[in-house]
Amino acid sequence: MRGRTCLVTGATSGIGKATAHALARKGASVVLVGRDPKRGEATVREIRTATANEDVELLGADLSSQVSIRELADHFLAEHDRLHVLVNCAGAFFRDRRVTIDGLEMTFALNHLAYFLLTTLLLDLLQGSAPARIVNVTSGAQSMGRIDFEDLESERGYQARLPTTNPSLPTCCSPTSWPAGSTPQG
Ligand SMILES: NC(=O)c1ccc[n+]([C@@H]2O[C@H](COP(=O)([O-])OP(=O)(O)OC[C@H]3O[C@@H](n4cnc5c(N)ncnc54)[C@H](OP(=O)(O)O)[C@@H]3O)[C@@H](O)[C@H]2O)c1
Repeated sequence: MRGRTCLVTGATSGIGKATAHALARKGASVVLVGRDPKRGEATVREIRTATANEDVELLGADLSSQVSIRELADHFLAEHDRLHVLVNCAGAFFRDRRVTIDGLEMTFALNHLAYFLLTTLLLDLLQGSAPARIVNVTSGAQSMGRIDFEDLESERGYQARLPTTNPSLPTCCSPTSWPAGSTPQG
């Protein structure tokens, strides 16, 4: 992966952090996305030390906010002229219904819309960097649900694990791992 630039969301914990570690170990230039500067910087230090790869940096963003996602993309585009791998991994499970700063149901906004918006904002760069990949981390729970297109934001009743609030299902219905050079448009 030397010479490749990778952007990983949800990189301060769990699957995203393990992915960032693995990419750094393979020699990639890795940009972590984290919402908490202290946790983010600590993760950068940890990965640099563990992998002996200094080319690891942090960009801050709260991915539940569309303004913050746009700022993240602007920041990345201002500093990088290549993106070979985008890993959308940030996500969370909410027992009770919450609403984001944009007025959207939180699970849908964070686990699905954020992936879509960030990918869309970076798509030209991904395509210009081909061969490139977009990886969306979802859940096996996708098989348990159906999408209620009449109530995408669970306004009629929020039950955290039931189909309408299954965060993985809409994401699994969009292409989950596209070769960026051949991403369908529209
Ligand atoms: N682990 C599983 O068994 C499992 C099963 C099904 C699906 N998944 C999916 O896999 C993905 C990763 O899961 P995980 O287990 O690795 O989760 P995790 O350990 O809880 O990590 C989630 C990551 O998302 C970040 N995040 C949460 N809300 C954010 C926000 N508003 N803005 C920016 N970053 C935010 C967290 O940042 P902070 O450090 O700041 O909290 C953290 O880095 C998620 O999308 C999850 O839905 C996981």
